[in-house]
Amino acid sequence: MRIVITQTADEAGRQVAVDIVDRMAARAFRVLGVATGATPLPVYRELARRAPAHALLELVALDEYVGVSASDPRSFGAYVARHIAAPLGVPPERVHVPDGAAPDPHTEATAFEKVIDRIGPVDLQILGVGTNGHVGFNEPGSTPSSTTRVVELTEHTRRDNAPSFAGAEVPAKAITQGVSTILRARTLIVVATGRRKAAAVAALARGLVVDDLPVTFLAQHADLTLVADAAAGSLIDA
Ligand code: GLP
Repeated sequence: MRIVITQTADEAGRQVAVDIVDRMAARAFRVLGVATGATPLPVYRELARRAPAHALLELVALDEYVGVSASDPRSFGAYVARHIAAPLGVPPERVHVPDGAAPDPHTEATAFEKVIDRIGPVDLQILGVGTNGHVGFNEPGSTPSSTTRVVELTEHTRRDNAPSFAGAEVPAKAITQGVSTILRARTLIVVATGRRKAAAVAALARGLVVDDLPVTFLAQHADLTLVADAAAGSLIDA
């Protein structure tokens, strides 16, 4: 595992964007796995600045809330369209996000796993981490063999994500790529900033699996980079 500690969150974002652009240049790069949330926003800003428009790139999202359609600005589908696909010039037909408004979310989850099988492997998957150590929406209790499925969000996660819903009810369920789905990507980059991620980051950096911290399942991956700012990296080796 390669670990990079930067002074600030913006520097962490720049570092991840530089890594991605380098990998895009180094090999045939078709599929970029993207994460949502506040942490990767500087990555996408820098990527749009550095990377040429990529009409041929395929974007694959990690997760989506159940019961929220992509036309809802609070959805991850809307996030990907606004912050990633549009700035990078990726057309909608090359953007793959689980459909949170699908009639049967379980059928949608199974179909999404097949989309990844069809267009994959994901060349590089960008990942954030939840304050409870979740990755995507693989909450504590998820297994390393999990695949794309419908999950119940913990109250901890719903509280963390409440600001995106501005007082409205945070969905109780989501569709998420499973841990084994994520591990099939050729390259993983976990980016974390802020003190609230420090415990999960330190556990990942130790390289030991901790069952109730799903992000630690990623330590076994052959090509994993962890980029953290000083605050998120503050407990490494503690
Ligand atoms: C959500 C997403 C995760 C993301 C996490 C952290 O739960 N499902 O993919 O990593 O939030 O988000 P933030 O970067 O805003 O802390």
